[in-house]
Amino acid sequence: MRFDTSLSAEDGPNIDHLLRTTYPTDFEARLVESLRTRRVMAAEHGLWDQGALVGYVAYSPVSIKDVDTKRQILGLGPLAIHNDYQGEGLGRRLLEESLKEVEADAIVLLGHTDFYERVGFRPAADFGLTFSDDREQNAAFMAMECWQGALEGLSGRVVYDTKFYAD
Ligand SMILES: CC(C)(COP(=O)(O)OP(=O)(O)OC[C@H]1O[C@@H](n2cnc3c(N)ncnc32)[C@H](O)[C@@H]1OP(=O)(O)O)[C@@H](O)C(=O)NCCC(=O)NCCS
Repeated sequence: MRFDTSLSAEDGPNIDHLLRTTYPTDFEARLVESLRTRRVMAAEHGLWDQGALVGYVAYSPVSIKDVDTKRQILGLGPLAIHNDYQGEGLGRRLLEESLKEVEADAIVLLGHTDFYERVGFRPAADFGLTFSDDREQNAAFMAMECWQGALEGLSGRVVYDTKFYAD
């Protein structure tokens, strides 16, 4: 299994295939294709098994509504492990390796809270950050400071690229 921090434009079809296989709809595949095409992606990491992409995680910049900051805050996602490889610890391994490599001041995400708490994320509400007006979405919204105090003074509504909100 090879951890890869240098996915290129040529890896698009592999990423697309993995996301279409692991997620129930093509939303994530289309989102990633759009972010890649517009060069909005901040970082992408993968896991390869003998030439097949079996793990993928993406990071894209987010902002905080009405807050002007130079701090780099990234939204993590999508994250996917190929169906045939799930439940073997690879998701956690990819996340841990990836979080060591990614350059950011803070990271936010919407996801399974149990899974992400184990790698250091906390409820985004602890930092005064929200995703939307929806209570369930906010309950699944997590954040992590890459250095202590990185999110100090930065509370508010987190805004992703518009494609994250598209149907
Ligand atoms: C979610 C996903 C990335 C996890 O990858 P994985 O390789 O199967 O996970 P791991 O084997 O590394 O599991 C790590 C831990 O998280 C737990 N876990 C795995 N999937 C979980 C889920 N969907 N919800 C809550 N906990 C989960 C595991 O039980 C395990 O716990 P343990 O450390 O106590 O044993 C993978 O299942 C996937 O790609 N799913 C489809 C796409 C998706 O839903 N992505 C969104 C992620 S928020």
